[in-house]
Amino acid sequence: MKQDVTIKGAAHTPIIHDSAIKHVTGQADYTDDIVEPTGTLHAYLGLSTVAHGRIRSIDLEAVRKAPGVHLVLTAEDIPGVNDICPNGLNDEPLLASSEVQFHGQPIFAVIAETRDLARRACQLARIEYEELPHVLDAISARDAGMPYVVTPLKLARGDMSELERAPRRIEGRLTVGGQEHFYLESQVAFAIPGEDDEVTINVSTQHPSEVQHMVAHVLGVPSNAVVVNVRRMGGGFGGKESQMNPFACVAAVAAKRLRRAVKLRPDRDDDFAITGKRHDFVIDYRFGYDDDGRILAVDADFYARCGFSSDLSGPVTDRALFHADNAYYYPAVELRSHPLKTNTCSNTAFRGFGGPQGVVMAERVVEDIAYALGRDPLEIRKLNLYRNGQLTPYHQEVEDQILPRIFEELEASSDYHARRQAVLDHNARARERGDAIRKGIALTPVKFGISFTKTSYNQAGSLIHIYADGSIHLNHGGTEMGQGLNTKVAQVAAEALGVHIDRIKITKTTTEKVPNTSATAASSGSDLNGMAALDGCRQLVKRLTAYAAQAHGVPPETVSIGETVRIGTKAMPFEEFIQAAYLARVQLSAAGFYKTPKIHWNRDTGQGRPFYYFAYGAACSEVSVDTLTGEYVIERSDVLHDVGRSLNPAIDKGQVEGAFVQGTGWLTSEELWWDDKGRLRTHAPSTYKIPLASDRPRIFNVKLADWSVNRENTIKRSKAVGEPPFMLGISVYQALNMAVASFNDYRENPRIDAPATPERVLMAIEKLR
Ligand code: MTE
Ligand code: MOS
Repeated sequence: MKQDVTIKGAAHTPIIHDSAIKHVTGQADYTDDIVEPTGTLHAYLGLSTVAHGRIRSIDLEAVRKAPGVHLVLTAEDIPGVNDICPNGLNDEPLLASSEVQFHGQPIFAVIAETRDLARRACQLARIEYEELPHVLDAISARDAGMPYVVTPLKLARGDMSELERAPRRIEGRLTVGGQEHFYLESQVAFAIPGEDDEVTINVSTQHPSEVQHMVAHVLGVPSNAVVVNVRRMGGGFGGKESQMNPFACVAAVAAKRLRRAVKLRPDRDDDFAITGKRHDFVIDYRFGYDDDGRILAVDADFYARCGFSSDLSGPVTDRALFHADNAYYYPAVELRSHPLKTNTCSNTAFRGFGGPQGVVMAERVVEDIAYALGRDPLEIRKLNLYRNGQLTPYHQEVEDQILPRIFEELEASSDYHARRQAVLDHNARARERGDAIRKGIALTPVKFGISFTKTSYNQAGSLIHIYADGSIHLNHGGTEMGQGLNTKVAQVAAEALGVHIDRIKITKTTTEKVPNTSATAASSGSDLNGMAALDGCRQLVKRLTAYAAQAHGVPPETVSIGETVRIGTKAMPFEEFIQAAYLARVQLSAAGFYKTPKIHWNRDTGQGRPFYYFAYGAACSEVSVDTLTGEYVIERSDVLHDVGRSLNPAIDKGQVEGAFVQGTGWLTSEELWWDDKGRLRTHAPSTYKIPLASDRPRIFNVKLADWSVNRENTIKRSKAVGEPPFMLGISVYQALNMAVASFNDYRENPRIDAPATPERVLMAIEKLR
């Protein structure tokens, strides 16, 4: 039977993020806001001051005697295994004991009355090292014969002899920088000991089950002794999938030893030094194409700075290859990853998971062709777009291509062709008159594969209770980091149960309610947890319907559950019905489950269907560059992005805007720089520049492709949104490239490396001037 009340907050409605007002009024509770029990102590980490060395001696006497210090922990004090490697390779000690492998590696922890006392005490350590040679970047690592941190991947398809036979060939090197997550809330963990082997950890993480597993491993206790809670994060962006481990584990070990609550929150500089970042890549590519600009064969090597341990470098460097085609068909292709060990922090997941680095290469290839042939890069892009039925380098068939329509609409709404002509005219005039301002414009696409490439991660659970008063408690395995996951899942539940969303309480993520969860990552949070919640709600509706039909002696088809429950000709409020169901001893709780269908992937053969579907989008950006200083502004960006049937258009639009700006920051102003001693010298906002509100496009038109419907049976036919639009920032990068190219009349691709900081832009101009 159909619901006759409009459900408040149903799926597809643009309701406000459930915590939006709390976020901006300071009333949202983060881990550091949890009321501290009496006797809470504070931990701080002592870090390596060399990039690579054997530890000769550690003298912590002065640290132990410092005011307010209760405990100093070293590797020897770890009751279980001194290892926090998230992938089973056991290559990442929690605290270094005999050897340090990067500047900033944790060696010991101090637990004191206050954070300030712990931090001061750390400075009193006397550690002697025998310094060993260190290697900082990927190419030096390759040349020095450093090992791979994980087995490399190769993707190959088609006849590579096409490369030699191609009428035209180009080769080049592309350097694309890393990125610091710069979550507003830094890493933080707060452990509270329980009886026997038990411990509860409140922590800012995207991956509670990983914390649970790791704390159990380090304490030497089973997982059932460890509870991990997270209500929300102040941003994660991939930086809290594995990087929270040292903080959570040290807090847990200390809390168990001292039988007191222990909190660990590094300051921003130490967070920068300790935690991994987006991998920077050096990509050597060669490709063949024809006189029309059609790509024939692509061959590329992807050298990545992985840092001292494997962490998530396997999936990240894999995904760089998975997206090295972006939206373009390569008839023949061979791509090789080189996940190289370096003496730097262990690089990790970051929005797009290596995908963006791959996409940048595809866009470079297209632009190389366009400049070589003297064509508009957009023509070359359109010429090479996948057609349905064509195979990706990992042998997955493209079945859901919608970029031609996205391009067509965006070209019209952004007035691309007229504006490109205006930019060309402007630059020609500027050249004649010697004006300093040059302009550029670019329209670039993204095609992004959705699913964890590790197939087993594509599962999720939920737990839904209806209390006897008719209020509902919704829990699932996903975590909230600002992306609006909890709101979207609550919308799904509201619609499935036919009730208003304000009946549903959004609750913290906890390993006690949903076990064995995957990280909230790979943009799949709402795909997976939305489906798991739907499954739980459907079980409840089925059970309640059967009870109502039986109790009232009517056919089940005449029952509908909702704000007003209809049973045959009778109607009653939800509360009244639930109260009766409770008294009739109907189970009012359900656990839901979901696993993504259709996907499979064989890493050894490099073949499969790793992605359930693709999300698409495109952006057109125009920039003005002051060619005397290299400084630039984004004059206008138009975005058209595909989220299928949006679960929440307001939240999805926010995700597209945020991702675009973050992607732009990655490719323009955010630059990581290590000195030759291996010290990261860009470790605070003073030296590391994330985009400001004033850096956003002056005109910023963001639209969702509201006609798009996921052809796969995803939650409400929506598509994942978290990561794909990050890559739309590439339009700004390519527009900058065009502005510079005007200096030699667009005869050759200036090939600015990323990030295209004002300094790099200026240097590229000087080369052509
Ligand atoms: N949005 C906000 N506000 N904060 C974040 O930390 N992380 C991004 C994206 N959007 C992030 C965000 C990343 S890296 C991912 S994988 C997705 O959100 C994860 O959430 P989802 O799967 O629910 O989209
Ligand atoms: Mo996102 S990098 O998958 O957390």
